[in-house]
Amino acid sequence: MPTVLVVGVLSQYPEQPHGCSQGSCYPATGDLLVGRADKLKATSTCGLQRAQPYCIVSHLQDEKKCFVCDSRRPYNRLTNPISHRIENVITTFAEDRKKAWWQSENGVSDVSIQLDLEAEFHFTHLIMTFKTFRPAAMLVERSADFGRNWQVYRYFAYDCAAVFSNISRNAQRKVDDVICESRYSEIEPSTEGEVIYRVLDPAIPIRDPYSPRIQNLLKITNLRINFTRLHTLGDNLLDSRQEIKEKYYYALYELVVRGNCFCYGHASECAPIQGVSRDDEGMVHGRCVCKHNTKGLNCEQCDSFFNDLPWRPAEGRSTNACKKCNCNNHSRKCHFDMAVYLSSRNSSGGVCDDCQHNTMGRNCELCKPFYYKDPTKDIRDSNMCKGTGLGAVG
Ligand SMILES: *[C@@H]1O[C@H](CO)[C@@H](O)[C@H](O)[C@H]1NC(C)=O
Ligand SMILES: *[C@@H]1O[C@H](CO)[C@@H](O)[C@H](O)[C@H]1NC(C)=O
Ligand SMILES: *[C@@H]1O[C@H](CO)[C@@H](O)[C@H](O)[C@H]1NC(C)=O
Ligand SMILES: *[C@@H]1O[C@H](CO)[C@@H](O)[C@H](O)[C@H]1NC(C)=O
Repeated sequence: MPTVLVVGVLSQYPEQPHGCSQGSCYPATGDLLVGRADKLKATSTCGLQRAQPYCIVSHLQDEKKCFVCDSRRPYNRLTNPISHRIENVITTFAEDRKKAWWQSENGVSDVSIQLDLEAEFHFTHLIMTFKTFRPAAMLVERSADFGRNWQVYRYFAYDCAAVFSNISRNAQRKVDDVICESRYSEIEPSTEGEVIYRVLDPAIPIRDPYSPRIQNLLKITNLRINFTRLHTLGDNLLDSRQEIKEKYYYALYELVVRGNCFCYGHASECAPIQGVSRDDEGMVHGRCVCKHNTKGLNCEQCDSFFNDLPWRPAEGRSTNACKKCNCNNHSRKCHFDMAVYLSSRNSSGGVCDDCQHNTMGRNCELCKPFYYKDPTKDIRDSNMCKGTGLGAVG
């Protein structure tokens, strides 16, 4: 194991001075939401069924102004500026950054926003910019198996002890500690407050960014943000008066989910998954354009006929490329055999399949029974093995 401390390498993906040929390489990070408006959902949106009133309140001046939302049709600056659907939070909709936002229904305190991706991605961080007060409590959770299992990344609350009482409020010590933090749940500012979450805290050094533990921590197929408590400035939401409820809801100007496609250091580019993804400008696609003789959506396997070494992630200056089998031109098929690999002291584990031209052996380097090697022919020659005329003709 290298003992070099690699600090936040995966969260930043520094500029690659070299291409994939010189070592590990990574696709650029981007906003995973771009081009995925149809994969982003909210459980509550103001005015989705019919126009609804809502009010804004400033806790400084005790004044109240009321408006109407109508999200039955998508936002349009000219014809429907009062639509507040969830897609308004994506930066590509931000030509009118302060005019188009997402807003939940009045007085609903449990609201989820969920992104469903079409493949595995690396998720590095998210940034939310709120139009109203930030939530008094919320959590960020992810699935890495298309929604079957979920794990919470982090809890956020104004009063962690009261809301998430069994979650640690200490600073993170290990990268995968799940904690509750309060700094993003303050009542100030009343607008444009941010919530920032980084999967890998840059303050925590990472010894091996390719350890399964770190890789698994960054891997997502789905991301969900649950808002669980509204700041209500002393009002009680259980108060059934409409004018109380109308003042409290969640509203987000912008949500950015940074990440890149997940290629184990074997690709510097990603392409659309056929039939699944669109090709919007600036979109982070999910299919790695694999180098180093690898293949798969995530370059997670060796290319066929490149099974002489076990598959490994690329690491720093080592491409850990998959290596071609040597079948002496008598086969185009091989598989990896761990026992063979170990007995070769980790130099070669490829075993040729279906040796042709009457050859056999791990590298098709031998002649089958009843055939002999013609000493005048090269080992790669298709006429290397001559029949003795003794056995079955093959
Ligand atoms: C988040 O909200 C969803 C419902 O939208 C719920 O199924 C899920 O259990 C919640 N997550 C947590 C950790 O409470
Ligand atoms: C905390 O308690 C809640 C329910 O009370 C439970 O769903 C959750 O799994 C617990 N979390 C931890 C880390 O123990
Ligand atoms: C050989 O490879 C095996 C399996 O990957 C590994 O456990 C072992 O440490 C390697 N041995 C050497 C000498 O590198
Ligand atoms: C082995 O096969 C390759 C391509 O199939 C061919 O170019 C090469 O000449 C062959 N080598 C020998 C020694 O037959």
